[in-house]
Amino acid sequence: MGSPRSLLLLTSAFLLLSVSSTSSFPTPELFTQCLEANSQNPIPFSTTFFTPNHNASFTSVLESTAQNLRYLLPSMPKPAFIFTPLEDSHVQASVICAKKLKIHFRVRSGGHDYEGLSFVSLIEQPFMIIDLTKLRSIQVDIAHNTAWVEAGATLGEVYYRISEKSPIHAFPAGVCPSVGVGGHITGGGYGSLHRKYGLAVDNVIDARIVDANGKILDRAAMGEDLFWAIRGGGGGSFGIILSWKIKLVQVPPIVTIFTVNKTLEQNANKILYKWQQVAPNIDEDLYIRVQMRVVNSSTQGKRTVQTSYISRFLGRADRLLQLMEKKFPELGLTKKDCLETSWIKSVPYIYGFPNTTSPEILIQRTLSGKMYMKAKTDYVRQVIPETALNSIWRRFMQDDEAVMTWVPYGGMMSKISESTLPYPHRKGVLFESQYVATWFDGEKSMQKHMNWVRRLYDFMTPYAPRFPREGYVNYRDLDLGMNHFNSTSFLRSSTWGFEYFKDNFIRLVKVKSEVDPSNLFRHEQSIPPLPLESFKD
Ligand code: FDA
Repeated sequence: MGSPRSLLLLTSAFLLLSVSSTSSFPTPELFTQCLEANSQNPIPFSTTFFTPNHNASFTSVLESTAQNLRYLLPSMPKPAFIFTPLEDSHVQASVICAKKLKIHFRVRSGGHDYEGLSFVSLIEQPFMIIDLTKLRSIQVDIAHNTAWVEAGATLGEVYYRISEKSPIHAFPAGVCPSVGVGGHITGGGYGSLHRKYGLAVDNVIDARIVDANGKILDRAAMGEDLFWAIRGGGGGSFGIILSWKIKLVQVPPIVTIFTVNKTLEQNANKILYKWQQVAPNIDEDLYIRVQMRVVNSSTQGKRTVQTSYISRFLGRADRLLQLMEKKFPELGLTKKDCLETSWIKSVPYIYGFPNTTSPEILIQRTLSGKMYMKAKTDYVRQVIPETALNSIWRRFMQDDEAVMTWVPYGGMMSKISESTLPYPHRKGVLFESQYVATWFDGEKSMQKHMNWVRRLYDFMTPYAPRFPREGYVNYRDLDLGMNHFNSTSFLRSSTWGFEYFKDNFIRLVKVKSEVDPSNLFRHEQSIPPLPLESFKD
């Protein structure tokens, strides 16, 4: 493969690659007839196929898993129809028919895409949704430390079903239980175990996907290049994931959880400065995330920033206290802050539920509160000085509903090379920093909150890496750029491609060019295909 630079030069010759146009959109009847002709088994359309004019439940199906309410506003384009396959052959038929009838489609598993790309198309209308929510079986095989998980399952369901079979097995993935396995694992997937065991994608050993020809491929059939690409290259670019085979990891039967809050008046600045140096380097059994929000100060009528240190330790409280006393005494952790509990009970807690919450909450598919939101992300590689933290607080306090979260890296994340998988944010990352603006009054205060988060991101520029500034494909951010209507461009997509994947972007483009040269799987930030000759030296 040529160097990134030579490829850039090569490809500047054909900036725009046209994709098939959807000028005359087929009727729903045409599509369902095609599905029937291409599916192994009959399809009960009354419960799987939804159009705005024929089904009263169309809106509730559309809204069911859509997480970011910003993308459900009346001004947002709505799908012409939604299909919810019940079996693999229905998914194959969807791909075959969408391709044959030139129907632009989006694929949805858990609906948590930050920019709604699984259920809204900003660049091509009309469009349809293939929603995998009904493909959600989970087969746990404790004897072999593995599980097969269908794309429509949620992380909470995966964690819960594993715990039903064993109290000492787990899977390292995201902290939010309602996130879908289909989208999450395609982008990386970090949680409270990544310092010990790496990302979700680091623990995937096989997968089944439907490719651009409607064929089902497992790892052996798809080959190592495509298997590499789907483990971190982002959803919606290479095919439809039907299921993942995941490797289970060991956790102790008893873990310790704690949350310690510190406001600015309680020395939050100094403690956070120290956290940046400690949290990425401390024992891999310990995960301490910091969540920051604006709260009432103890001084009447004033506002302050509260930093919450939310933690899980893979061990008992005594060992944790010794470790904290030695490495991070500034936090002032005491025995009464600590609660020893089972692994599975710690899962809802680490997301933000009270420590009395029953694990059954993990199998309620829609548990996280929906809201209007806009988020931006950085990977921080250098400690932010105390003086800068003071300035950050001044910016931060300009939005009352804002949340900033810092997630420590290090540990196993530093031991896996940047190119092992498409997710490149590994060695040298101290923490991932996320800025989230949320609101509840729809369009009314939207601009104010969006502006705030963009200003904060701009303000953080000196503390983030440059060339590229790094971002996370699973925290999709359309401010970084997007494909245009009916066209993708290598140069245009380089703006977000290198931020999400660093140099792995080039290999992703090559894989895309091989497996989906006609760009069937596309969206606002999908990986663009190029003519394969571009990759010859
Ligand atoms: P959704 O269905 O919206 O899909 C996301 C993308 O993947 C879309 O482009 C979609 O087309 C594509 N896609 C979906 N299913 C596919 C399939 N079967 N095959 C191919 N492509 C598919 N992340 C993290 O790493 N750690 C965390 O702790 C959290 N926490 C978190 C909390 C909350 C409240 C939100 C909203 C999000 C997170 N995330 C996260 C981010 C999350 O990992 C990311 O949004 C995932 O893409 C969501 O996957 P879903 O299947 O839910 O989304």
